[in-house]
This record gives sequence, C-alpha cells and structure tokens, in this order.
Amino acid sequence: MCGIVGAVAKRDVVPLLLEGLRRLEYRGYDSAGIAVLNGHLTRLRSPGRVAELSKLADEQHLSASIGIAHTRWATHGAPSEKNAHPHVSDGIAVVHNGIIENYETMREKLKAQGYVFTSDTDTEVIAHLVHSRFRTGGDLFEATRHAVADLRGAYAIAVVAENQPDRMVVARMGAPLLLGLGEGENFAASDVSALLQVTQRLIFLEEGDIADVRTDGCRIADAAGRTVERKVHVSQLTSSAVELGPYRHFMQKEIFEQPGAVAATLEMVTNAQSVSPQLFGVAAGRIFGAANAVLILACGTSYHAGMVARYWIEGMAGIPCSVEIASEYRYRASVPNPNALVVTVSQSGETADTIAALNHAKSLGHRFCLSICNVPESALVRASELRFLTRAGPEIGVASTKAFTTQLAALVLLAMVLARLRGRLPADGERELIKALRHVPGALSSVLQVEDAIKDWAAKFAEHHHALFLGRGIHYPIAMEGALKLKEISYIHAEAYPAGELKHGPLALVDKYMPVVAIAPNDALLEKLKSNLQEVRARGGELHVLADQGAHIEPGDGLHVVRLTGHAGVLSPILHTVPLQLLAYHVALQRGTDVDKPRNLAKSVTVE
Ligand code: M6R
Repeated sequence: MCGIVGAVAKRDVVPLLLEGLRRLEYRGYDSAGIAVLNGHLTRLRSPGRVAELSKLADEQHLSASIGIAHTRWATHGAPSEKNAHPHVSDGIAVVHNGIIENYETMREKLKAQGYVFTSDTDTEVIAHLVHSRFRTGGDLFEATRHAVADLRGAYAIAVVAENQPDRMVVARMGAPLLLGLGEGENFAASDVSALLQVTQRLIFLEEGDIADVRTDGCRIADAAGRTVERKVHVSQLTSSAVELGPYRHFMQKEIFEQPGAVAATLEMVTNAQSVSPQLFGVAAGRIFGAANAVLILACGTSYHAGMVARYWIEGMAGIPCSVEIASEYRYRASVPNPNALVVTVSQSGETADTIAALNHAKSLGHRFCLSICNVPESALVRASELRFLTRAGPEIGVASTKAFTTQLAALVLLAMVLARLRGRLPADGERELIKALRHVPGALSSVLQVEDAIKDWAAKFAEHHHALFLGRGIHYPIAMEGALKLKEISYIHAEAYPAGELKHGPLALVDKYMPVVAIAPNDALLEKLKSNLQEVRARGGELHVLADQGAHIEPGDGLHVVRLTGHAGVLSPILHTVPLQLLAYHVALQRGTDVDKPRNLAKSVTVE
C-alpha cells in the first residue's frame, strides 16, 4: 500500500528519495509524488509509475537537501494527479499513509476557516490542519504535534515547511514509520527497504511518537509529549536483499530462495535433539503448558498456512485448533476461550485485519498471544508476548511465496513443541521429525527442478479462463494456496476444493475447458483421491497431477503427471506448494501480467 520516504541531508536527496520510492513500489501503488525545499517548496506528482516521476524530476533538474516523497494506493479519491501526495497548504507539504476516520468533520471545520480543498483525499485535511496550527505558533514540530492530536484513525506522516528548511517532522499512530540514522544526514520511511540504500541504523517509532528530524540528529517525543530515547537497531539486511539480481522478477527470485529461507528459519533446531519452547519466547513453556486450545488468526496466504497448521496441531498435539480469517473473526460474535493460545500469522506483521483481530481477541479476554511473523518490530510482533520470526528475508513480490513455506516451517515446530509438552511426541519421534526437517531445504531444491515440466502445463493453462485445484486433508489448504497464487498474478479464475466435495456440486463445472490440478502425495488419502480423479476424467476434465514417489499415478490421455521426489510424510505440504507457485508464475509470464505488482493488489494491506 502507500509508501513514505523522507530525507534531511547536506547533499542532494532527490536521487535518494526517488530510489527509496522505487524500492517501495512492491507494496502496490497507483501514483507517486515528491516535495522538496530548495529556497521554496517544489512539488511534483505523477498519476503513474515512479519512473514517470523520476523523468519529471530529471526534466526539471530537481535538486534539494530536504524532501519527502510518497507512493499512493488510492483509498479516498481516485488515482489521479490531484489526489497524489504530497498535499500542500501554503508552504507546508505532507505525505501520509493510513486513513483519517474523522476527515469529513475536520474538512468542514477547516473550510469554515477559509481553507480550500483541491483533492478528494483525507490527507489534505492534515496539511491544512498543520498549517492552521503553524500559523499561530510558528514551530513545525509543535504544529504537527497539535494537529495529530485532532486526528482519529491511522497515520504515518512526514511534513516539511518552506520557512523551516532545516527539519522534517514525522509522526505515527497505527501505521509503521521508522527513522534511518546517517552521518550528518537522517531519513524516515514507512518500510526498511527504502532506507537500506543509505543506512542500516534504524529506529522503529512507537505508537504516538513524533520526531523532529534534522541533519545533526533526531528528537523523539512520545504521545504524551515527553522527549524519549528509542533503541537503535542495526539491520542485518543489506541493500542487495531487496534487489533483483539475476532474476527477471522478485517472485521468481523468492520462489528459488525457498531452500535457503526454510533452512534459515529451521536453523535453530536442525542440529538439536529437541525443539525447545524457548524458540517462541521466554514464557512459552509456561503459556503453552497452560493453553487448552489454539486459535489461529490470519489473512490470505498466511491463513492457508494456519489451515495446514490445524492438521499438524490437532494431529500431533491433540489440541483443538481453529483457524479464522482475521477480517471475519474481528466482527463475529465468537465464544472466547481465555485459555486458548491465539496465534497470529503474518508475513508483514502490519496487516490491519490481523492486528484488529488480535486486539479483538485480547478484548474478549484472551491472554496468550503468539505472533509468527517475518518482520521484526512489526506491529503484530510488538503486540504479542510470544513471537517466532521466520527468516525468509524481505519478500517483495506481492504474491507471497517464501513467506508461506517459512511460516509452515515455523508452524510445524509449534505443533512439535505442543505435542512434546503434552507427552504426545516421544523423544525418538521428535528426533525423526527433526531429521526430516533437516532434509526439507534439500528436498525443496529438488522440487524446483520440476520447473520445465510445469512450464509445459503453464502454456496450456494460460489459454483458459478457469481452473480447479483439488487436494485432500492437509493438502487441501495447499490447493487453496495454489488457486490464490494463480488468481492473483495471472487473473485466471481459480477455485480450490477438497476433492471429496467435487460430487457435491463443482463437478458440474468440469469439461475439457476446465483444467484441474490435483495434489496427490502418497498419503493415507491417496486411494480416495484417485477415485475423485476418475470422476474428473470421466467428464472429460484435463487432469494435472502432482504426485510423489510411490503414488503410482501414470500419465495418459488427458492425465499429466509431475512427480516430486520421495514422499515427505507430514512435511509434504511444504514441498507440494512449490510447483503450484511455479505454475502461477509461468502462467502469468505467458499472459504478460505484471507478476510482482498485480493489478489492484498491495503487498501489505494496512487498511481495512
Ligand atoms: O502480511 P500478511 O501475511 O499478513 O498478508 C496477508 C495477505 O494479505 C497476503 O498473504 C496476501 O494474501 C498475499 N498477496 C497472497 O499472495
């Protein structure tokens, strides 16, 4: 969704701001803009891509040592130049992520004071509000502090003022914002990836913080206005972690990074004899021991990871586990169980629905919260007593890939710990599972070798408008994930069904124009699945089967088989995900879609 980058330096910051925006493109956006102070306030906005904004900046020889820039994902008002940020009010420029809920009331008040609105956005309210405070007090920090006190909703903002050209003021509430510390220069951004080009020294601002950013330092005040010190983190990420390298797309890069990402996520256990609860936090042993159920809350791909986890948690640990779509749970009248362990799963840790679902669970009396997340210091991680950080590294492609397989790795560890604590996983069983986990990165590398066979499938799928994905048991959520991947990057309508449900309705859809993908590992449900596949073949459906060794499904007329290596037992879902990601990727290539930035979608869904 929207992205912010700001800089205060003694050198020209325009190239840094534009490069920062380029690195934020993956979040999804529909317009971009920049405002700099170079004797006066200069603003450029483009209703299109960052590249177009850069061209404008080049044409105008834009240069300045202080500025703010933004990528906008439209919420209030259509994507257009007039709605693109920064928004200005008589020498003051503002960029904003989030949504101001009371903007209509504020707008009327400001209009009554004589302010004229030129956009349909909620953000313009902030610009005029800061201006109205500024013209009475004359101090940008104080003006911004008073202005944000009037706002309801979520915001991360950066503000500059023409007649205070040595400072940028930033503030956050409900939307992420961090500072980047340099030598004689300082920065702010909504996402670490925009700052790695200039610094690895970061301060994650807390809820309600406001900061005065200058070349020689940053002063931070908390929500109560007290000056505070915030911890400086040195990021382990390098600038190259968010670069494409030899790959054509980030999604392709991220699919191929999975062996390494899963190995990194499992690093702490693969050489151990046992999986310690401490992996999830110091209080995990006590909390896991007291929990009598598990409630998983997540959205999208992370929800699918949660669905897989239900099979592991109930199967291994014998604990009731429910999995809920966060946006539904938060508004449902559910029956709380205060002794349930609430597990939020999220790549970004900033998904508004998942954060709200966690807050809702807490408001219902849930006491035990674990976050499985890929982003340290994200809102979800900070809001959870227990946390497990997946080590996928930055995921840039909107379609989640390595985040999913690393979430699965984390969730299988959770199931193992819960099972051990309940005496349901004997020590030799645990050692066997750890051994199997050790083999997963290598097995993922082998699975990636099926790419050429999948490309052949993709050529045919690209001609169709619909596809069905079938799985049974623990592989049903994998079928859902395969369908989601295909939908979001190729725009082909895809649905997933538990194969046993076919005859209860969806079989009516099957004909030669409906390619069907079936996940057919050699597990206890294989024979049942084979019967379901016969039902498809008998209706002329073209079957594409992902089997593993021992599944004894042979290719034939209308039956295409891609065989993975040996059956991975309970870990099989992790491996069967990869060919489905490759299928979606190659179908999207065939159809010429924007693989990394599919239409209408954003990487982190920070609004409801
Ligand atoms: O950052 P999160 O894992 O919380 O994001 C949840 C979903 O928005 C995300 O998984 C989305 O469904 C992906 N685009 C799927 O590829």
